[in-house]
Amino acid sequence: MKRILVTGATGQIGSELIPALRKRYGSENVIAAGHKTQPDKELSEGGPFLSLDVRNFAAVEKIVKEHRIDTIYHMAALLSAFAEKDPLLAWDVNINGLRNILETGRKFQCSVFFPSSIGAFGPSTPADDTPQDTIQRPTTIYGITKLTGELLCDYYFHRFGIDARGLRFPGLISYKTMPSGGTTDYAVEIFYAAVRGKRYECFLKQGTRLDMMYMPDAVRAAIQLMEADPAKLIHRNAFNVTAMSLAPEDLYREIKKHIPEFTMTYKIDPMRQAIADSWPHSMDDSAARKEWGWKPEYDLAAMTQEMIERLSERFEQ
Ligand code: SER
Repeated sequence: MKRILVTGATGQIGSELIPALRKRYGSENVIAAGHKTQPDKELSEGGPFLSLDVRNFAAVEKIVKEHRIDTIYHMAALLSAFAEKDPLLAWDVNINGLRNILETGRKFQCSVFFPSSIGAFGPSTPADDTPQDTIQRPTTIYGITKLTGELLCDYYFHRFGIDARGLRFPGLISYKTMPSGGTTDYAVEIFYAAVRGKRYECFLKQGTRLDMMYMPDAVRAAIQLMEADPAKLIHRNAFNVTAMSLAPEDLYREIKKHIPEFTMTYKIDPMRQAIADSWPHSMDDSAARKEWGWKPEYDLAAMTQEMIERLSERFEQ
């Protein structure tokens, strides 16, 4: 029987991954662990919820031991723009947190899921059809922590046999929990503005094309990878996965099909623009497709329609 710990429980991914895992493996078998943010009712009442700072090794160890955890989805991390504002904190949370998870995983024989990112690539990486195996020289502290994380996960697999697996997530679009401090956040904020009848001021410039994915696909990808037959995995940390490649104006045009009066202007944030400019435009995810059957379900049109429907329901209440 699976006993799962999810760190970063109240974050953008955690808050949707946990209900999906609880549905699949039983509520009592999925322990949600968050740090500063208060959980909503679904998280705190839908199963066990604990407070955890992943930088505290003893606390990580205690939870894993007491709850007989065998699988850890380690989602706690600082996103790219926040990380750039406080690089040392980003290193502390993203790297020391992961080290604590992997070390505990080694002690108690847990499988570990690690979310890497398009940020693990840099300006010298081929930006179009970015290969699975290619040059990785990220120029952001976030990217450096993600690339280090990929290497550390592979190291724990080869050296200690820890079943660590990861995905390089693109920008994730979701309606449940806002991302915070990321460079791709515009792709979520734009929907909130559109549905509330407001103008959106985009902080990335026209033509900034990045990989994106709708959250249900991201959650399914993580679970599917962790359930994949290990004998079929040639790669582990971490797989390119993508669903669409978008620039702000593409999203704007699609939203306007549903909300014709919506308007968007641009006010560029130089820091986030520089981060975005160092990332790929579109990743080649054929290794994930071949090795464990990855296939996204949502394209731009399907994602946009559902985002608008869900957010409209919420704001009408
Ligand atoms: N969504 C993340 C960010 O913008 C990228 O992985 O930081």
